[in-house]
Amino acid sequence: PDRTAPDRTAPDRRSTLIHHISTLVTNDPSLGTGPLGLIPDAALVLEGERVVWAGESSKAPATDNAFDAAGRAVVPGFVDSHSHLVFAGDRTAEFNARMSGRSYTAGGIRSTVAATRAADDGALSANLAAHLTEMLRQGTTTVETKSGYGLTVEEEARALRIAAAHTEDVTYLGAHIVGPEYADDPAGYVDLVTGAMLDACAPHARWVDVFCEEGAFDGDQARAILTAGKARGLLPRVHANQLSHGPGVRLAVELEAASADHCTHLADADVDALASGTTVATLLPGCEFSTRAVYPDARRLLDAGVSVALSTDCNPGSSFTSSMPFCIAVAVREMGMTPDEALWSATAGGAAALLREDVGRLAPGARADLALLDAPSHVHLAYRPGVPLVTDVWRRGEHHSI
Ligand code: NIG
Ligand code: FE
Repeated sequence: PDRTAPDRTAPDRRSTLIHHISTLVTNDPSLGTGPLGLIPDAALVLEGERVVWAGESSKAPATDNAFDAAGRAVVPGFVDSHSHLVFAGDRTAEFNARMSGRSYTAGGIRSTVAATRAADDGALSANLAAHLTEMLRQGTTTVETKSGYGLTVEEEARALRIAAAHTEDVTYLGAHIVGPEYADDPAGYVDLVTGAMLDACAPHARWVDVFCEEGAFDGDQARAILTAGKARGLLPRVHANQLSHGPGVRLAVELEAASADHCTHLADADVDALASGTTVATLLPGCEFSTRAVYPDARRLLDAGVSVALSTDCNPGSSFTSSMPFCIAVAVREMGMTPDEALWSATAGGAAALLREDVGRLAPGARADLALLDAPSHVHLAYRPGVPLVTDVWRRGEHHSI
């Protein structure tokens, strides 16, 4: 058998009961206890691509099929709202150098740009598909992914076309760093990103993003790029305050971006801005782990009332992990989150960061996207770090046995 892809069966138009669930996380407070809407001894009914019923096992309606969860926990499929998966090449040497004391800079992106440009469409698509499979096997059912390793009109549009064949949440990140051809003319590159490149990319993307950081784009440039994207119907999100204090977070809130991502270096004014606006703070612990940097302070954000999402930032440079369970474990151990908060952030939080209401929860009407854990509850995701607990995944009602 093919060990690289999970076994799967086609979505069932008939109703399927998943019963004997020890703990069901619905993320719907009206269905169970607490913010996670927890239901003990639960069952779930799926029909086609949707959840049609969730509740106590003893009250479950009659269905065509049944699946015995055998006392395991069910969580909504993880929503990974930030990744960079259209790339080629490998940066093992850069990682090795970092682990011997070198620090992370945006400069490493250039080596992935060169490798990505040299790869054909088939290779880029196959690499993306392999990472999406890797993610699915770890319980992730929704993935956002970005361009940003092309940095010419043709290469950025190509990356987005390839991404759009695999996921609905595609992000135009022509403003990852200044393209090498414009090294001496950053203003000219911003004109390109807001002009011809945007024209070529907007039809393939839902989102526009910018890396607002020293060595990438400053606040004025980021504002121009996000505003131009918005005028073309793209929704803004921002790489903000990753490596230093900067204007990214406040700009994201001002432009009503769905999410400010990283949020590692925050002043009180940044936290206040997030607390007063609608922008989600997306934290990416794989990045600090893999760059030996200080973790963002999730506790400070949560205590201020900010909505927090967790995501992998999967990319070959700063965070080459595809594992949401890993991010949950690190967020709990290192960032002051409770296991319940981390689970919410990795599911409903990611959905909020993508302005999605159909995923990140398991209530009637939601997508039948869920993960079954070989554990009595979701708390084991943090309690048993590094252990592959996901045994089965349903995505759009399609069952994948892992
Ligand atoms: O989110 N911060 C900018 N972009 C990526 C890293 C990309 C890379 O190093 O290749 C990030 O960490
Ligand atoms: Fe990123």
